[in-house]
Amino acid sequence: MYHVERKPFPKDFLWGSASAAYQIEGAWDKDGKGPSIWDNFVRIEGKTFKGTNGDVAVDHYHRFKEDVALMAEQGLKTYRFSVAWTRILPNGRGEVNEKGLMFYENLIDELIAHKIEPMVTLYHWDLPQALQNAYGGFESREIIEDFTNYATILFKRFAGKVKYWVTLNEQNIFIIHGYKLQNHPPNVNNAKRMFQANHIANLVNASVITKFRELNIPGLIGPSFAYGPNYSIDSNPKNVLAAENAEDFGAHFWMDVYRFGEYPIMVWQWLKDNNLTPEVLDGDMDLLKHAIPDFMGLNYYRTTVNADNPLDGVGLGKINTTGVKGSTVESGEPGLYKHVSNPYTDKTNWDWDIDPTGLRIALRRIASRYRLPILITENGLGEYDKLNDDCTIDDSYRIEYIRQHLVAINDAISDGVNVLGYCTWSFTDLLSWLNGYQKRYGFVYIDRDELDEKELKRYKKASFYWYQQIIKENGKQI
Ligand code: NOJ
Repeated sequence: MYHVERKPFPKDFLWGSASAAYQIEGAWDKDGKGPSIWDNFVRIEGKTFKGTNGDVAVDHYHRFKEDVALMAEQGLKTYRFSVAWTRILPNGRGEVNEKGLMFYENLIDELIAHKIEPMVTLYHWDLPQALQNAYGGFESREIIEDFTNYATILFKRFAGKVKYWVTLNEQNIFIIHGYKLQNHPPNVNNAKRMFQANHIANLVNASVITKFRELNIPGLIGPSFAYGPNYSIDSNPKNVLAAENAEDFGAHFWMDVYRFGEYPIMVWQWLKDNNLTPEVLDGDMDLLKHAIPDFMGLNYYRTTVNADNPLDGVGLGKINTTGVKGSTVESGEPGLYKHVSNPYTDKTNWDWDIDPTGLRIALRRIASRYRLPILITENGLGEYDKLNDDCTIDDSYRIEYIRQHLVAINDAISDGVNVLGYCTWSFTDLLSWLNGYQKRYGFVYIDRDELDEKELKRYKKASFYWYQQIIKENGKQI
């Protein structure tokens, strides 16, 4: 459907940008912070590009005022960041570390002073190592209470100041990569444990939302989920079925639980047939059913094309962590689907499809199935950027990427979807978990590479000024 006249972006549309603690803060062992599973995982040889880690990252911990000043200059309406659980509770539970809380309080106050709405992610993958050691992290139900207590500390301390709360960031990614692909901690490849940990993560999400309601905290809360529509390679019904399978396994398996407290029928049957069902106790499904989020957070990057995959077909592939185009190896789930390349889309240097229309499709699918407002909690382009001699950075490809995605959002809004806001990934350049510092996403260039921290000076890219203008005119001129 084409719109002759597009609807304008809503007046109070949240123009934003996002980050995560481990990827920007540095100061990994400062002021009482305890170690997280990522602090340790990055030290395992061969896990990250050139062994890069977030020990220093881009030193946001010490430079947050400078960074917030840049956000204010750009005109951001909201800034999404995550709290490192191990700054608040170095061992995941027990004594609160006041210095850790103060860091976030200062950041939040600084944002508010500059009229920027803080959006807080409770969990962006940096689980306290102490809890991983004590009971296997997400594999034990003990985490439900520990996580809820941690969240409660933040709810109480920042109630009234923070109006937007994100529970778990990309549960699908940290579960699949952590328990199957072995490129996230806890570095496990075991399907039974994966589905168990996933069920418990669902309970964590529901428990935190339930607590938020009980405490009557003003504001909105929801998970953020990594979703890109699954396409079929063609109209061969077998391939269409494969795409359906991929949607069920890749999207409904999570979002149906968030919204309806139910696992999709076909996936549940598959789990049963394969002896992989998680342990479900009395009360679990009830808890899940009653913890309806206020919004669905969407992290959108790319779409996937699917084809039929026989039982003895393609399994785990290899993802591109090098930035060399074409080095992704086909992957799939035998008997369900396999992912193949899309001939119609351009790719980034990390082989991610560039597909703005896919975002419009994603927004419509989510809105229709879940009937919730959508907050785009991430979207952006990871590319090599070049700092010129005159200290400028011409990232016109990023401008074009974001512009096209904004058009897609506007189209979805014109289609009737309620989109609350849009956070680009990311505000400054930062550590890409597996890809080091060469894969840049920010509006603000930071002078460092994998091995050399240099002075970590900040430089505004061309996209910085462009987005500034977009915000100023509330997206009118896209
Ligand atoms: C989603 C994750 O939430 C974020 O941490 C990551 O850096 C981006 N995707 C880009 O891969």
